[in-house]
Amino acid sequence: MSEITFNFKNISVSDAELNSLQTKIDVCNEQLAKRTGSGSDFLGWLDLPTNTSVQLLQSIQETADELRANYEVVVIIGIGGSYLGAKSVIEALSNPFKKNRTEIIFAGHTLSSHYHQALIDYLQDKNFALVVISKSGTTTEPSIAFRLLKNLLREKFYYDYNKRIVAITDASRGVLFNIAKTERYKTFVIPDDVGGRFSVLTPVGLLPIAIAGFEISELLEGAEFFAEQTETKIDANPIYKYAATRFALYNQGKTMEIMSYFEPRLSFFAEWWKQLFGESEGKNHKGIFPVSACLTTDLHSLGQYIQDGIRNLFETFIILHEQPNSLKINHEHLDADKLNFLAGKTLDFVNLKAYEGTAQAHLDGGVPNLTIELPKIDEHTLGQLIFFYEKAVAMSGYLLEVNPFDQPGVEQYKKNMFALLGKK
Ligand code: PA5
Repeated sequence: MSEITFNFKNISVSDAELNSLQTKIDVCNEQLAKRTGSGSDFLGWLDLPTNTSVQLLQSIQETADELRANYEVVVIIGIGGSYLGAKSVIEALSNPFKKNRTEIIFAGHTLSSHYHQALIDYLQDKNFALVVISKSGTTTEPSIAFRLLKNLLREKFYYDYNKRIVAITDASRGVLFNIAKTERYKTFVIPDDVGGRFSVLTPVGLLPIAIAGFEISELLEGAEFFAEQTETKIDANPIYKYAATRFALYNQGKTMEIMSYFEPRLSFFAEWWKQLFGESEGKNHKGIFPVSACLTTDLHSLGQYIQDGIRNLFETFIILHEQPNSLKINHEHLDADKLNFLAGKTLDFVNLKAYEGTAQAHLDGGVPNLTIELPKIDEHTLGQLIFFYEKAVAMSGYLLEVNPFDQPGVEQYKKNMFALLGKK
């Protein structure tokens, strides 16, 4: 299996400083291992790469195959952890110019009438199915989208509409669970001990990813690589080194982390990461604010700020090694654009030089950085990245002394919105 690798040389944190965090890391590691820390009822994701049963994988694959065989479009309805993981993997693995045999569309992640009206119009003459995902079963955005799209299904397909719906929700409670039971949908369960933003390796992520035609067992195998990591020494465990580095930088006043990636297909991976870290760490007026930049694109928009704005930033680059047989720049006889100095070089090579130049410039400008290097982007490396970040955020939350597995702050907007909407 090809493994992701790490480069910590630009972090501006000394070895002594990092090593001074070892005792704290050991305490937090024990809380995770013995499940004694805050939110420890939500550590089920730790076991998903090793404990997901063959039967569950088979059942997910059979449902995905059935949906792929029978429908032109599958609409995945969900928000936050109930859609970002699936979308990030599907987008990272898809060819942007090639339509999937079964088109996958996401809904219920916004209250935009423009988006949902356009979707309803688009689906009018399509043979489609719905996968509705909500752990609580009561989240407003997906509930409204589900109501609207179920209405369309009923109008188009009458009594059979329920055969076109798969629900992924709690095992025994919640509004969606009750609807699914009453209306007899096919269902998959989100385990009780796995929170939304940690659920990509449950049916929440696996079913949509399998519908898109990607190998879910390989995603889990990739995740297993880091799940089996038992080393706790900062120097020997990149997950803990990343967490310790972030913590040391935070204590130096670096309160924002930019995930800077050089492949646009990772844009939703960055969205998934932002939710994972933002919702897990941002508590009790603490936490590092996660932002993202697609490079080199955003060097022409955010680059100036990163280079020279407020110095509360650090950066994690995600780069892809030069790929064999990747696109080469051609030679032109007249060289009117003066680019012949690049002739014969791959675009990947130029992209990597852009990364090296950027990492040095940002370091010189006071933005420490580290780099995660991907040998390629496939199910294995994405599985590794997913588990790497999940474990890192758990460790980071414990280092900050917050519960990384709850999200009490999300309730505030809902309370206000429901009061304004007159909900009883
Ligand atoms: O991480 C979380 O728990 C949240 O982001 C949820 O995933 C999100 O709010 C959606 O919740 P639900 O799946 O209950 O609809």
